[in-house]
Amino acid sequence: MATQIPPGGMFTMAEGLTVTRVGYGAMQLAGPGVFGPPKDRDAALAVLREAVELGITHIDTSDYYGPHVTNEIIKEALHPYPDDLRIVTKVGALRDAEGGWPHARSPEQLRQAVHDNLDRLGLDALDVVNLRVGGFDSPEPGSLTEPFGALAQLQQEGLIKHLGVSTVSAEQVTEAQSIAPIVCVQNFYNIANRADDALIDSLAAQGIAYVPYFPLGGFTPLQSGTLESVATLLEATPMAVALAWLLQRSPNILLIPGTSSVAHLRENIKGAALPLSENELTELNSIG
Ligand SMILES: NC(=O)c1ccc[n+]([C@@H]2O[C@H](COP(=O)([O-])OP(=O)(O)OC[C@H]3O[C@@H](n4cnc5c(N)ncnc54)[C@H](OP(=O)(O)O)[C@@H]3O)[C@@H](O)[C@H]2O)c1
Repeated sequence: MATQIPPGGMFTMAEGLTVTRVGYGAMQLAGPGVFGPPKDRDAALAVLREAVELGITHIDTSDYYGPHVTNEIIKEALHPYPDDLRIVTKVGALRDAEGGWPHARSPEQLRQAVHDNLDRLGLDALDVVNLRVGGFDSPEPGSLTEPFGALAQLQQEGLIKHLGVSTVSAEQVTEAQSIAPIVCVQNFYNIANRADDALIDSLAAQGIAYVPYFPLGGFTPLQSGTLESVATLLEATPMAVALAWLLQRSPNILLIPGTSSVAHLRENIKGAALPLSENELTELNSIG
C-alpha cells in the first residue's frame, strides 16, 4: 500500500472508488502508434511499478491498446493488485490491420470486450468501464442508448462496478445518465483545447469526475507561447505548468498523463504540484 499521496489529493467517484487525482494513462506502454509490443518491455513494467510506488491509485487503460499489450503488461507488473488501486478501462473500439480504431459497439462486441479486459487484467469485475462513443478526439452526434444499455446490463450482471463515457457531448452525457449512473467522463481537453469548459463545471456540480485525455497534447505536444513564457518564469517545463493548471482548473479533474518513461512519470507527478498564482492563472486561462 502506498504511503504517499501525489499532488491534488484524492477524489471520490463513488463508494469504494476513491483515487488519487494524479493518475497514470497506460496507452503509451504499447509499441509505436499504440500498436504491438513496446520497444522495451522491462521499461514498461518499471513505469507501472514506479507509478504505484509513488502513490498513484488510478490507472487508465483499454484492451484495444496494442491490442491487448497494455493490459497484459499491467497484469504482469502489478497483479495481484494493491487494495487501493483502481483500473479504469474503456470499450467501444477495435484495432484494424492498418492501425485504425474502428467502432465496435454492438452488444455482442461490448460483452466480448468486457470479458477480454477481465481475462487479460486478471479480474472478476472491472472497477470502471468507459464507453468510447465519438471519433479520435471529438464527439460524433448520435444516440448511445443501445451500447450504453448493453454495458448497464453487464453492470447488472456484476462484471462492471461503475460506468463512464468517453468522447461524448453534453447531450450524450445526459442520455447516458438516463440509463444508468456514470462516475466519470473522459474527453479530449487540455490547457489549449477548452471546448469542454461548461461540461466540466456541470459535472463538478454533480460530483462526477472529468478525466481529460491528451493532457499534454497527446501525439502533438502542446505548443503555446504563453505556456512557454509562464514555464520559463517559473523555471518549470511547459508539461508541469499544463498539468498543474489542470489540477487547479476544477476539483473534479483527474489527471492521466501518459508516458513510457520512469523519468517523465516522476517529472509529471512533481510538476503537477507546481503552485500557480492568480496572475499566472489569468495568463494561462487566455490560452484556450
Ligand atoms: N478515451 C479516449 O478515447 C482516449 C484517447 C487517448 C488517450 N486516452 C488515455 O489518456 C491517456 C493520456 O493520453 P496520452 O498518453 O495519449 O497523451 P498525453 O498524456 O497528453 O501525452 C503523452 C505524450 O507526452 C510525452 N510525455 C509525457 N510526459 C512527458 C514529460 N515529462 N516530458 C516530455 N514528454 C512527456 C509522452 O512521451 P514519453 O513516453 O516519451 O514520455 C507521450 O508522447 C492515455 O495514456 C490513455 O490512457 C484516452
